[in-house]
Amino acid sequence: MKPEMRSDEEKPKRAFSDKFLIKRLLKYLFIHKKLMLIALLTMIIQTVFFALGPYLIKVILDNYIDQNRRLEFLGIWFLYLMVIILSFFPMYIRRWVLLIAGEKSIYNLRKDTYEKLQDNSMDYFDKTPAGDSLARMTSDIASIQPILSGEFLMAFSSLFMLIGGLIVCFSISFPLTLVTLSVFPVIIIFAIFQRRLVRNKWDDYRNFNAKYIASMAESISGARVSQSFARSEYDRKDFDEINEEYYQKGLSAFRWSSIVNPFYQTYTKLTIVLVLLIGGSLTLQTQGVVTVGSLVLFILYLNQFLDPLIILTGVYALIQASFSAFERIVILLDTPPSITEIVDARPLSCHSGKIDLNKVTFSYDEGETMVLDDFSLSIQPNECIAIVGETGSGKTTIISLISRLYDIQEGSIQIDGQDIRNVTLASLRKSIGVVLQEPFLFSESVRYNLCYGKEASNEEIKEVLSLISAEFVYDLSDGLDTKVGERGGWLSLGQRQLISFARALITNPKVILLDEATSSIDPQAELQIQRALSKMLENRTSIIIAHRLSTVRAADRIIVLHAGKIIEKGTFDELLTQKGEFYNFYRLQFRHEE
Ligand SMILES: Nc1ncnc2c1ncn2[C@@H]1O[C@H](COP(=O)(O)OP(=O)(O)O)[C@@H](O)[C@H]1O
Ligand SMILES: [Mg+2]
Repeated sequence: MKPEMRSDEEKPKRAFSDKFLIKRLLKYLFIHKKLMLIALLTMIIQTVFFALGPYLIKVILDNYIDQNRRLEFLGIWFLYLMVIILSFFPMYIRRWVLLIAGEKSIYNLRKDTYEKLQDNSMDYFDKTPAGDSLARMTSDIASIQPILSGEFLMAFSSLFMLIGGLIVCFSISFPLTLVTLSVFPVIIIFAIFQRRLVRNKWDDYRNFNAKYIASMAESISGARVSQSFARSEYDRKDFDEINEEYYQKGLSAFRWSSIVNPFYQTYTKLTIVLVLLIGGSLTLQTQGVVTVGSLVLFILYLNQFLDPLIILTGVYALIQASFSAFERIVILLDTPPSITEIVDARPLSCHSGKIDLNKVTFSYDEGETMVLDDFSLSIQPNECIAIVGETGSGKTTIISLISRLYDIQEGSIQIDGQDIRNVTLASLRKSIGVVLQEPFLFSESVRYNLCYGKEASNEEIKEVLSLISAEFVYDLSDGLDTKVGERGGWLSLGQRQLISFARALITNPKVILLDEATSSIDPQAELQIQRALSKMLENRTSIIIAHRLSTVRAADRIIVLHAGKIIEKGTFDELLTQKGEFYNFYRLQFRHEE
């Protein structure tokens, strides 16, 4: 668990206005124009029904009960019955349609977020803890789900009813409607007040939620370390503190929500009390200006008219709660990836596999600490270059730059004479086979991992596996369909490495970039991997970050890197006779391997 979680004092910044966020939300909803049209129609019908019901009651009260017109009374009563029964349909259809529209919007939102996440460049993943993205994809989306699947649109239909209700109220009694309208200023003032108070608390709550998930994800994947250091007791204490803070933040965000609904409920009902008083005295005083029927009708309307008002205020509170989450999603969606293709990017044509790095300057933090400074290297087709150098000298960085995981600040990188910034990313990465220092396998079958870069037939797989003598795969319990566990944890390191070799080879790339694993493996596996390597590199251009003597020796050329600069280069024998840096390096690191 990260200690910095506890000192969480940063004030959340508002990146987007509510207006912008609402527009964004509507864009998701209004993709489904037909559904929206049906919803609108049912809203109109429902509003008509809604207005008609109480009107019929007034007609009955004013005209038919008084004058004992039994037959007509029954007629109107029947009409009223029909209105009540038929109003089931527009209500049902509207809810159903809105539900579909809402769920589809969530579906699209999830899709967009996922695709955006996939498109993001490495610097995003460097800066953002996995758990933060996870939180955006899961709990943040979940918290705007109620808004998208219905609530937001319910607010629309409530608005409709509210306006419809107002018109009818005016037509019944102008003065009584004016009395009713007095509720609005207070409600608006309370809403503004509530927004000020609650929104930051919600931002805080959602940001903390993301940190919480990030921290949990880390402590779960670090369980092995935590248990071996007997940290469980401390971690539990850390967790208790975080949990306590989470609870407090939740409490302060929810505290205000709990007062919102009761306040509106009570406050709006007070208008009925007021109308009763004023309407009652009007009925008593003047002759026939306000009939008993109109007063009853007005109060019935008012009741119906206040319901949508309460729904509206409820939705408004919900919007405050979920817009913090929505904003986090929109920030993810709207931040462009740092690595993009140019408009007329063409596929890379990579036939010979010549690689040129010209005066490359690069730093991970916009120029603060240079990792590579004025770095040049030319690699001939089919050449194998070994890079050696102390840890942190920039070896892995070179590999990442050639696959354009990061963009360089100055200079250029060319493959077969084409600047890698002018070609499509997919074609570039398909032409390059990368084997990372820590072989990462997905918790699927061996076959899934092998075919990660390209769908391959059983024959193709067999060919690649036998090329690098990795037939052990067929001896696993389920052969190619054996599950490998999380990160490939059910296989040994050597096995994982061979699978990641095969994975890189399956696309038949012209260029191989390989970050050799430092962890020593047994001599048997070492020999096998060495053999696999030499097969793998035939007829390909390759850069290998070498940690094993056998690899260094097999390379055509060796460069020695120090703090992002080449300090020596040459063949193995040349460098040994020079007795320079490489010679020292050799004595320190490789001598014992002889
Ligand atoms: N993703 C990253 N973000 C920021 N700095 C990094 C990142 N990766 C590496 N560095 C820094 O760049 C330098 C070179 O790292 P790297 O290329 O991984 O070294 P090597 O592979 O030679 O051990 C180091 O100082 C390291 O701290
Ligand atoms: Mg490295």
